[in-house]
Amino acid sequence: MTDSIGVAVIGAGMAGRAHAAAYRAASTVFASTLPPIRLVSVGDVSEEFGRLAAERFGYERNDTSWQAIAADPGIHVVSVVVANSLHREIVEGLVAAGKHVLCEKPLSDSLEDAEAMAELARGAATVVRVGHTYLRAPGIAFIRSLIDDGTLGAPRHFSGAYMTDYASNPRAAMSWRFRGTPGTGALADVGSHLAYISEFLCGVIESVSGGRFVTAIAERPLPLGAVIGHGSTAVSDETEAVTNDDFATFNASFASGAAGNLSVSRIAHGHANSLSFEVFCERGSARWDQNRPSEIRLFLTDDRASTNGYRTVTLGPAHPYLAGGLAMDAPAVGFGQNDLFVYQARAFLEEVAGIPEEESLPRVASFDDGVHNMTVIRAVAESAAADGAAIAVPTALAVAAD
Ligand SMILES: NC(=O)c1ccc[n+]([C@@H]2O[C@H](COP(=O)([O-])OP(=O)(O)OC[C@H]3O[C@@H](n4cnc5c(N)ncnc54)[C@H](O)[C@@H]3O)[C@@H](O)[C@H]2O)c1
Repeated sequence: MTDSIGVAVIGAGMAGRAHAAAYRAASTVFASTLPPIRLVSVGDVSEEFGRLAAERFGYERNDTSWQAIAADPGIHVVSVVVANSLHREIVEGLVAAGKHVLCEKPLSDSLEDAEAMAELARGAATVVRVGHTYLRAPGIAFIRSLIDDGTLGAPRHFSGAYMTDYASNPRAAMSWRFRGTPGTGALADVGSHLAYISEFLCGVIESVSGGRFVTAIAERPLPLGAVIGHGSTAVSDETEAVTNDDFATFNASFASGAAGNLSVSRIAHGHANSLSFEVFCERGSARWDQNRPSEIRLFLTDDRASTNGYRTVTLGPAHPYLAGGLAMDAPAVGFGQNDLFVYQARAFLEEVAGIPEEESLPRVASFDDGVHNMTVIRAVAESAAADGAAIAVPTALAVAAD
């Protein structure tokens, strides 16, 4: 690598823009330890989307094929932020070209492809990681620290939901999100986040049960133009069958002995982006809610019984990521989901730059973590297909609780 790091983002859709913005901001947070970051290219098959994102976020150019990015020796780091079914081909091409790769979650739309990608990553000479973005949420990292230091003590029960409404409207256009086998819908899209968060707090899931999927809207109209993220677009009268889940629910058994109930939806009217959970532990409980990301709710049993109750803790520089992680890092200034992408990009660039782990943000998740996440999704699909039967989750690669 030269003394600067050249960056590209493949995919200029909803999350691709967050990656493009995050690389721009990564060297503006914390101490100035990174080499200069060159924002080189945004790649998207849509020339318009790529060009607009490159202009907006200050990249030198846009490309319409990932191969052009792979072939450019001035690009060292690439985020892959396209439909899950495209991850494997693009990641393989980039690793073969010697790039450091940050791939979006879930690793793929099939466990088999994800396993092949993880094998490739294990032998790669470059840094190859998967974006489990919510591990960067200051409130979630703080709750984990309260479990680790004994304040909350060991978790007994995790209750979580990721409710979204992007598919509530039956006229919302068909897109890659609605194609694939059961489990590749809401479960893989938003449930993958909830599953790795539950494991971050409670340790690895060793079995699931009570799997249930609902596809409430069986057909969707084809779009007349490009669809980005959860956005609406003009649609035709022609429809295509939806083959995956609008709603999914399951129970989790963690190796620690803790239990969990997890539910996700993309048809929950009124919930644009509501990820929330409560974790009940030996010495108290904690609650986190995406709609109020700069606070947590905390209940501790060692408080005086007569005045005890759930309290609101406003997050600030005393909590993970925030001291130096915000331009104005005073308490109660507020922050949100886009900041998580900045911390993730920063951690990835630190590893690529060879900055020792103890001087860096926690490393970005490995492809083995990504495969484990997908084995949980696969097990839920098997449970749903077997009327909610208990299904063991292979834990050979389970490093999610580290
Ligand atoms: N970490 C998070 O919080 C988060 C949030 C949203 C999405 N995601 C993940 O990010 C990925 C992308 O999701 P999205 O919502 O941004 O999708 P999207 O549909 O909004 O955008 C995908 C983009 O990829 C482009 N594209 C399609 N084929 C391409 C190709 N061969 N080469 C280059 N570009 C191509 C499309 O034109 C589109 O602009 C998915 O894996 C998704 O699960 C993660």
